[in-house]
Parts: sequence; structure tokens; C-alpha cells
Amino acid sequence: MGKHDADIKRLEDVDYVEAQWEFEKKLLTEHIYPEGFPHLPPIPIGRYVDAEFFELEKKHMWSSVWFLAGFASELPANGTFKAFEFLGKPIVLVRGRDGAIRAFHNVCQHRGARLCYQSSGKIDRFRCIYHNWTYELDGALVYMPSEHEFPHVDRQERSMTPLRCERLGNLVFVNFDMDAEPLDSFFAQTSQLMADVPLDKVELYRTLSWEVNCNWKGCNDNFNETYHIPHTHTDTVHGTLDYRCHAKYMFDNGHNVMITKARAGEGAGIYKTVKSVQNPLKPITNQSSLAYSLFPNLVMPVAANVFSIVESVPLESGRTRMNLHILKIQNDGLTRDEHEALCEDAITAFLPVVEEDVFMLSDMHASMSGGGIKSAQVSYAEQFVYNHQQHLDRVIGSENIPENLRITPVDLPIAGLRKL
Ligand code: FES
Ligand SMILES: [Fe+2]
Repeated sequence: MGKHDADIKRLEDVDYVEAQWEFEKKLLTEHIYPEGFPHLPPIPIGRYVDAEFFELEKKHMWSSVWFLAGFASELPANGTFKAFEFLGKPIVLVRGRDGAIRAFHNVCQHRGARLCYQSSGKIDRFRCIYHNWTYELDGALVYMPSEHEFPHVDRQERSMTPLRCERLGNLVFVNFDMDAEPLDSFFAQTSQLMADVPLDKVELYRTLSWEVNCNWKGCNDNFNETYHIPHTHTDTVHGTLDYRCHAKYMFDNGHNVMITKARAGEGAGIYKTVKSVQNPLKPITNQSSLAYSLFPNLVMPVAANVFSIVESVPLESGRTRMNLHILKIQNDGLTRDEHEALCEDAITAFLPVVEEDVFMLSDMHASMSGGGIKSAQVSYAEQFVYNHQQHLDRVIGSENIPENLRITPVDLPIAGLRKL
């Protein structure tokens, strides 16, 4: 039993969450600051705009954190691969002859040429086009032309360089740190709550992407608070979700969960739910808009047959690729056409909302770096932003951060449920 198991269990209780909604609504409408909740200190703006801080994140955080690399459905058959770059590092994912998905640095161990030039495809073996060194799908070097000219070379030592690669259902994560804690334990508390989401039945339907001139944390913050809903999304999601009724829970490792009331009740969150089709989700997941925020850069609003992941991929300090992955959950109760129609509905529903967000974010790097703002100030409603920043400092190590860029630690109620 983990130390917050009982708390997490209570989040499955619809009555408890409804009481929480009423409590939050009362705080908001009667202008009450929740008793005992810490006052959140300012966040130095340099954390968003200084190239120095971006380098610290690269060196100490992105080098050792689990990040989303793709979906198992992108590698449907043995020998299928996906090549991409993350922070300038070429990576290739491949499904081996044994069906397992592995990740490698996309570099030939002879003299460093790129191994896969295409972004996806199917291969029998990795063949470097420079001098034809050839590797098995599990990375083993199996052929070098004129091998007799390398009499002192041990083939095994020239195998492709592996990366840690683990899965949460069909979500494939990679970690540059070979000694990183297992993915399961990194997501432990959150996975416990997410147990009803059949991640092993998830398939990628489509990815929509935007490049925005904003730090990746600015993009991620945006999907971690409901404070902006009535103002930024006046004519869209404000009509669907009641931003006043949100139950928020912060977890270990910088993860969060937000449960927001759907104005029209059950199955009326961001996405339409087909009520006649059985789904495995818990009542609370079906009856609300439930979004998981997974450290460092994923936000996942879950619904019955289709859901999405918003991913903020760092490119440069002031530039981020925001991916909106639309995922479908295989369901025998739906025909392919019906399911695709649901995915298209989800895109129609979510696209204008994300575009409103993208508009707000698209110019933030310039407005933040003009010298006109020294720190960001977040409120009780934006507590996830603080949890995220605070965990980031834990991962980077405060001692590695210049004093003027450090976050001031506060005692946040991690997975501690509010007594009503
Ligand atoms: S660099 Fe790949 S075979 Fe020479
Ligand atoms: Fe938004």
C-alpha cells in the first residue's frame, strides 16, 4: 500500500468529487481563500526565457526523465520503425522480430552516420548507407564489409547504442538515462487512478501540430489550469465545462489530476460519449472531464472512446512544438466508420479550443523576454503550475540553479485530500 492509496481511492467516489466541486464553487463565488493552502510565491520569469535555464533543463532533466516517443500502433508489424529527433538527438524506435519495441540512438557505430533517414517505414535490418554496416533489429552488429580489415574489433562492442524504452499500455516512453527508475514506478500514483483507462487498447488516430514561440512550460501550464477558461474560451469550452467546479489533486513526481464538472452532466465533457456502447471507465471518469497531467510535458483529458494527449515538445528556449494526439480506444461495440466519426467529432470539438490557446501562447516568448515582467504570479487555481515548477527544481537539483532562477519551495498538499 502506498501512503496515499486511501486518498486516491476516494477520487473514484462520485459523491466525494461532487462535494468537492460544490466546495470549490463556494470558495470561488464567495471569494474565500482556502484555509491552510500556502500562498504561492512568484516564479522567476527567467525560468521561461533564459537560454541558461533551458540548458539546465536539458542537462539535468531531459537527460533523465521519461518522455513520450510514440504509440505502439505506429509500429504495427515487426521491422516497422519510427525515427525522430528529441532536443537535437536522433532516435529510432523499432519493433523487433520478437514483437518488442526498442529504442536506439539513430547513429551508426562505424563512423557516426545517421542510420535511418526516413521518418518511418519497414526494414529487415538496419543498413548504414555509408559503408554498409548492418545491424539486426535488436541492435546487434551483424555485418561489416571487409570484416578481416578489423581483426581487433569485437562486433558486440559495436552494436547500436540502446535507450531505455518502456510502455504504459500502448504509449511508448523513452529515457536517455539507462539507470532511470522504471516507468511504472515514476507514474505509480497516477497509474493507480488511471487503471480504468485501457491504455493497451489505444491507437493513434491523428496528430495535429503547431509550432509556437513560447517556452514549453508556458504551453504545458496552459493546459494545467481552468482559470483562463471563461476569458480565453468564452464561446467554446466555457459553454461545456463549469470551471468553478474543479477538483484538483497533486501527486508525487510533479503529476496532477483535474476533475472538472461537465455542465450538461454525464458524458458531456469535451468529447461526446456514445452511451449505448459499453466502456470500461469508472463512473467518475464518464461523469466529468477528467484530465491527467503527467510530468513533464503531457496533459491527457480522458473520455470513453476517444481521447487526446496534449504534448509540449521543447525545441528551443522560446519555441515549442505542441502536438495534439487524437487517440481512439478499440471497442468492439463500434464500427470503424462510427469510431472514425467520433474521432472527427473530437477534432471538431477540441481544435477551436486549442487554437484559442495557441493564439495566447504564440507570442509569449517575446512578451516575456522584453524586460517588462520579472516573475509570473500564480493563484490557488493555478497550483499545478507551481507543483510542476517545484518538481522541476527537485529534478534539476536546486544547487545547480542560480539563486535568482530558483523556485521558492512551499509545502503543497501532495495527494492530500481536502476535508470538507
Ligand atoms: S558510418 Fe555507417 S557504415 Fe560507415
Ligand atoms: Fe485553454
